[in-house]
Amino acid sequence: MKTILWLFLAGISAVTALFIYIFAAGPHLRVQPNIRSFDAAMPLPPPDSVPLERTRAPAPSAAEATALTNAVADTPENRRRGRVYYEYYCLACHGEAAGGAGPVGRSYVPAPADLRTAVPAIPTDGDLLRRMLTGVGHEPALPNIVPAAHRWYLVRYLRALPVAERTPP
Ligand code: HEC
Repeated sequence: MKTILWLFLAGISAVTALFIYIFAAGPHLRVQPNIRSFDAAMPLPPPDSVPLERTRAPAPSAAEATALTNAVADTPENRRRGRVYYEYYCLACHGEAAGGAGPVGRSYVPAPADLRTAVPAIPTDGDLLRRMLTGVGHEPALPNIVPAAHRWYLVRYLRALPVAERTPP
C-alpha cells in the first residue's frame, strides 16, 4: 500500500516538474515565426474592376445638368450598349420592359417610374442623366455604381424606349 502511495506521489512530482520545465524553457509562441496576414499590404485589383475611382464622378447638379449634351452618338450600336448597361444597373428595379415591375422594384412604394412615360416628360438629356442617378426614389449610392463612361449610353437607350432591344451575346 505504502509503495503505491510513493509511486503516486513520484508520478505527480514528475508531471509537475515537467510542466514547470516547459513553462520556463519554452517553446514560446511569441518567439516562433508567425505570419501576420493582417499586416500585409493587399495587392491592388486591376483598374476598373471595383468601383474605386467611380466615386470621383458625382451626378451633376440641376444647374450643371442643363448645360450638358449627350457625349455619345445616337446609333443602334450605342443604344444596344445602353441596354446592356440598363440590364446591369436598372433592370432589377425598373424591369425588363422598363415599366417599373422589376424583381426588386415590385416591392417598392412608390413603385419605380414607368420609364416609357417618365422619360419623354424629361426635357433635356442632361436632366435625364441627373434624374436617372439621383432622382426621387433612387438610392444615393447610384452615382457611385454607374461609372461616368456608361451613363450617356443609358440615356441613349432610355430615349429610344419602348424599343427593348435585346442584349447581343
Ligand atoms: C433601387 C431601385 C432603383 C434602381 C436600381 C433604379 N431606379 Fe430609377 N427609380 C426608382 C424609383 C422607385 C423611381 C420612382 C420614384 C417616384 O416616381 O416617386 C425611379 C424613377 C426613375 C426615373 C424618373 C425620375 C423622374 O424624376 O421622373 C428615371 C428616369 C429613372 N428612375 C431611371 C433609372 C435608371 C436609368 C436606372 C439605372 C441606372 C435606375 N433608374 C435605377 C428606383 C430605382
